Amino acid sequence: MSLTRDSSGALHSCGVSLQHVIDEVGTPTYVYDLDGMAERARELDEAFDAAPHLVAYAVKANTAGAVVRALAEAGCGADVVSGAELVVALSCGIEPDRIVYSGVAKQDDELDRAIMCGPAGIGAIQVESLEEIARVGVRAKVAGRRARVGIRINPSIDLADATHAHIQTGHDEAKFGVPLEDVARAVALAEGAPNLELVGMAVHAGSQLKHVAPYLGAARVLFDQVRTLRDGGVLRALTYVDSGGGFGVDYGEGAAVHPVEFVRAARAELRLHGLDDLALYVEPGRSLVAAAGVLVTRVLQAKVASAARWLMIDAGMNDLMRPALYQARHRIVPLDGEPAKGEAVAWHVVGPVCESSDDFGEHLLPRYPPRAVAILDAGAYGYTMASRYNGRQAPVEVFLRGGKIVGNTHRATPESWAEERVKAGMTLEDESGRKTVLDL
Ligand code: LLP
Repeated sequence: MSLTRDSSGALHSCGVSLQHVIDEVGTPTYVYDLDGMAERARELDEAFDAAPHLVAYAVKANTAGAVVRALAEAGCGADVVSGAELVVALSCGIEPDRIVYSGVAKQDDELDRAIMCGPAGIGAIQVESLEEIARVGVRAKVAGRRARVGIRINPSIDLADATHAHIQTGHDEAKFGVPLEDVARAVALAEGAPNLELVGMAVHAGSQLKHVAPYLGAARVLFDQVRTLRDGGVLRALTYVDSGGGFGVDYGEGAAVHPVEFVRAARAELRLHGLDDLALYVEPGRSLVAAAGVLVTRVLQAKVASAARWLMIDAGMNDLMRPALYQARHRIVPLDGEPAKGEAVAWHVVGPVCESSDDFGEHLLPRYPPRAVAILDAGAYGYTMASRYNGRQAPVEVFLRGGKIVGNTHRATPESWAEERVKAGMTLEDESGRKTVLDL
């Protein structure tokens, strides 16, 4: 995100004053740079040269229509994990052929949606277990269609040194992917099912990988499997291999390898395995959108005690859950000017939610508390993981393009939150949707 300061020190994003944004829409508010996101996507797309490929944007990172449309215009397809995300991707103009669907426990109606959309269903439903293959086969039969599927393997790779435990997905205890010992059986099952067409083989070993080696390790396991199976005369209808997402970003603790390097390394490995007749899919989420978003929040008050100096902001763990969930650290900067040398003190920045984990960590900020701050690199897994805990409304989102505000979302009121909760249990709805108001 292009963040600059004007001569008075005020923070601007893409030329737009963030103070102006919050004067208009209040706080807490996510502000996104759509041009920055599109630029990232184009860079990644170009790293494939003319080779067949798909940059399937992992929609879970940021589901806002403006974001998905900007990335689709920049050449992305989509990786979705629910029927609702599939609807977003399709509604934002991504063709069914360019969508893959991952997830360990898909519902029947979600599978039906994926199988039924467009002339031939989505590009591939990526199955994650032997059991799921039979389920997708049944749904395809019911629909009278042949569903395209991919098999996500579990590469049995321990990434304990590479990323946080909560976002590792490729080790033996993880619920994700078909275990290596079952891959040949899964392929036989999928190829033998009359209503399925096995078109892809996939892996995704973890997120926020800052170096190529662990990513490549997982890709190598996938490519080895595919090579061996093909040499054995199966996987004849295969059109793609998918090495997953997971390209890390720099949250301020040190540079991450550029996403383009991950793609180059995976392509080289694909060639080494003699598999470059296949398209290479990648599923980046965070690396396309994280750095192009900030969460702007007002400082409500300070609390200075002998134990600590607390700075209390109006954004909480419900708005940005990453620090509470993964002990993640996001940089925090004042909106109205960096402190002069010697003027900064350590403030412990916390939100209003009644949980000790509602804690954004210690940050050097002006001794005299700023009126508002920006939490950086919040474009991925921020809004999408937000909740309404503690009677809090969802944060607003503001979209910037070409140096101006091009859209924003609406902030619910405390009254609307309260009204919805007060009404909970006041009506009884039967299966046909008929409502009876209860006399409580
Ligand atoms: N593909 C699959 C199958 C995934 O499960 C994920 C992320 C991605 C692609 C995209 O990964 P990315 O490129 O964004 O690293 N909420 C966590 C991250 C969870 C990632 C879940 N899966 C966080 O805030 O760090």
